[in-house]
Amino acid sequence: MTLFQKKQAVLKLLALSLAFMPSVQAEEASLYDRLGGLAPISVVVSDFLDELVPDPLLNQNPAIDAARQAVPKPYLKYQVTAMVCQATGGPCQYHGRTMKDAHAHLNISEREWTRMKVIFRDLLVRHQVPEQEANELIAIIDSTKADIVVATSP
Ligand code: HEM
Repeated sequence: MTLFQKKQAVLKLLALSLAFMPSVQAEEASLYDRLGGLAPISVVVSDFLDELVPDPLLNQNPAIDAARQAVPKPYLKYQVTAMVCQATGGPCQYHGRTMKDAHAHLNISEREWTRMKVIFRDLLVRHQVPEQEANELIAIIDSTKADIVVATSP
């Protein structure tokens, strides 16, 4: 075998091994990974609920006010964290109720939904979540709206 033929054989081998390498780099990281995993997600969820639960506008709704007094905040933080972890492609499994079942009795209105979104957006800005990731998180939240907003009042 000449030197040239040897070089050609090595190149062929290289090309073959590259072809069989898993295409890890080609795949985009999950939203979960881009957010930094469970620790930062749990901090954002915790801060979110610390603002959402005592919010005066939301608690004008007697059903929301009653539920927030009856349901432990750490429990809600746990369930929402598990849900966001799963929905963003993380390793958690959400075992809570469906969004319909968990919110049906709260009679949540469009105005209350808008208030929740304002709190959430402000929080993402404060935590410096990049625009792309923030938009993906908001899209996840929005996908639950039809199951959560049931009140016919504005
Ligand atoms: C205006 C908007 C919202 C309000 C006022 C609200 C309020 C509440 C309240 C008071 C509970 C406790 C209900 C009870 O057990 O009696 C609850 C449960 C829960 N909420 Fe929300 N929520 C809102 C939107 C959302 C959104 C957008 C998500 C997630 C995308 C979410 C996820 C959950 C989860 C995971 C639970 C626990 C379910 C379980 O106990 O199995 N909520 N929410």
